[in-house]
Amino acid sequence: MNRILSGITPSSPKGLHLGNYLGMVKPAVALQETGECFYFVANLHALNNVFDSNQVKQNTHNIFVEYLAFGVNPETTTFFVESDILGIPYLQTILNNMVTISELKRMHGYKDKFQGDVNPDQIGMGLFSYPVLMAADILLFKPDVIPVGEDQSQHVEIAREMARTFNNRYGDVLKIPELSVQKNVARVPGIFGDRKMSKSLGNDIPIFGTEQEIMKQIMSIKTDPARIHPTDPGNPDKNLTFTYFDLLEYDAQKLEDMKEKYQKGKIGDVEIKSTFLNFFLEYFADFRLKKIQLQKDTEQIQSLRIQGAQKANLIAETVLEEVKRTVGV
Ligand code: TRP
Repeated sequence: MNRILSGITPSSPKGLHLGNYLGMVKPAVALQETGECFYFVANLHALNNVFDSNQVKQNTHNIFVEYLAFGVNPETTTFFVESDILGIPYLQTILNNMVTISELKRMHGYKDKFQGDVNPDQIGMGLFSYPVLMAADILLFKPDVIPVGEDQSQHVEIAREMARTFNNRYGDVLKIPELSVQKNVARVPGIFGDRKMSKSLGNDIPIFGTEQEIMKQIMSIKTDPARIHPTDPGNPDKNLTFTYFDLLEYDAQKLEDMKEKYQKGKIGDVEIKSTFLNFFLEYFADFRLKKIQLQKDTEQIQSLRIQGAQKANLIAETVLEEVKRTVGV
């Protein structure tokens, strides 16, 4: 069976938003039907920018629970936390010898950091070797395919390079996984319409926020600026609320009717947004409920985390032994 592996960095204390759901979570949940999935919370990766230990713990726990609430199935998927697999940093140490400094200097994550007046010598080693840690995550499980967003494809390419270097030096031991760039997944615009939806820009619609928080964001969605009164004719393409209706596959007929009324100045923005708010809350109601239920059951979460680690370690330990033997340690 096709082995699929992907990680999620827990760098934000706030929960997942609509953009994360459509761009990442929904495809990951769907992929469970197509192969043997390995999904993990990449908490070691978060250490290069989250320096508060409680925050690291909270973010890790939160995203673990949210993925379960969204339907990651711990029975069929090996779902774990990166730091529970000691073989990962161990393999990272070995892989440090399969890549050069100059290759790592070409990585976007590092390059983007020293744009402006940042001195490259002041950049943390954790950020610099982030791609090696990611390669270790990947290669330790011998996956067939790594589904990632465009922004991570360079990291998967360099992981493949490290595996090739290893195999050339020592013989065929590591599997070279395929990169699958998720092209057909939704790119979700932020509520102000200018940038991609992102927590840090404050332009997101949080899925697990309070109803107040969700309402506040939905009521701030950009609408046709030329329209002053609800009776003015509006251009539906300039009201982002319609885009979100579309992305969540709202009833096509109802959507057409609403757009028509909008064009004729027969419906106000507030009414459209209220309709969207209700639809959004209904759409995510089960997930929101599931998260609350799971969160109450800390013991179950703890035991799922341990189970996941055990399943992952079964493979990780075997591969690490093979690698250690191969390099002579
Ligand atoms: N770096 C990835 C991101 O920020 C997360 C990640 C860590 C990952 N390890 C991975 C993704 C291994 C795929 C495979 O999105």
